[in-house]
Amino acid sequence: MSFTILKKHELVPTIHQMEITAPRVAKKAMPGQFVILRINERGERIPLTIADFDVQAGTITLIFQEIGKTTCQLASLAAGGLIADVTGPLGTPSTIGKFGTVVCVGGGVGIAPIFPIARALLEAGNRVISIIGARSADILFWEERMDAASSELHITTDDGTKGHHGFVTEVVQNLLERGKQGAHSEPGEPDGHNGQIDRVIAIGPPVMMRAVAGVTKPFGVKTVVSLNPIMVDGTGMCGACRVLVGGETKFACVDGPEFDAHEVDFTLLMSRLAMYLPEEKEAIDCKATAELAAGRQ
Ligand code: FES
Repeated sequence: MSFTILKKHELVPTIHQMEITAPRVAKKAMPGQFVILRINERGERIPLTIADFDVQAGTITLIFQEIGKTTCQLASLAAGGLIADVTGPLGTPSTIGKFGTVVCVGGGVGIAPIFPIARALLEAGNRVISIIGARSADILFWEERMDAASSELHITTDDGTKGHHGFVTEVVQNLLERGKQGAHSEPGEPDGHNGQIDRVIAIGPPVMMRAVAGVTKPFGVKTVVSLNPIMVDGTGMCGACRVLVGGETKFACVDGPEFDAHEVDFTLLMSRLAMYLPEEKEAIDCKATAELAAGRQ
């Protein structure tokens, strides 16, 4: 059985949005879960977070960045094209509860997976303060969706072309400090009205998630990150996605992908992610890859 690409477009340079017919996946999908797809029978298996899903239409939305051979091949496909396998939903869903005020941080392509989580947290009655960041305004996406899924939205760009000139961590720090002051001056107010931050969830490049964890730790605010290690089977059998959390080995595909940010060994995560970089570099000529995939070589 193949999966049909209904819509596909380049959101911003090198980041693509793809809507696929996958009724069984859409029916069971929950925020925080992912799929593993293979473009063709001989293709590599890659994990992609489910950025949105529509049970009625039987579709899922995936966002991906051209970072390796397979994502470049995927980028070369158009609406009407077929994908050999889409397995999922996989992983443990995000914990959605009524926490009070939750800060949702999405960095770069991490804006896509943070969206359904922010929306579910807002629907669950939380005050959701979202922060989305990118290197520059021209690669920032889903601002309107994030605005609709949040009580308050902050934008940051590294180069200052939109919103706060700097990193998401600076806004997180400001919010935590504001919350601390508010909590002290107005201790009787209910959660969400005194600025107190009750939970932070951050998704983005590992270096960003590590920085957010470093900022929130002194404030003692529960912080969750969604890890993106290399995955192969997605079912806890191969061990490719192993991460160290609180000194214990965990498999991100079944035990995660979300973990307590203050317990994650980010150094190990980053060194494991760098393991195949030489091979990816060799395969990363996207134009040649796309031409090969289309048989135009
Ligand atoms: S991807 Fe194989 S154990 Fe997680």
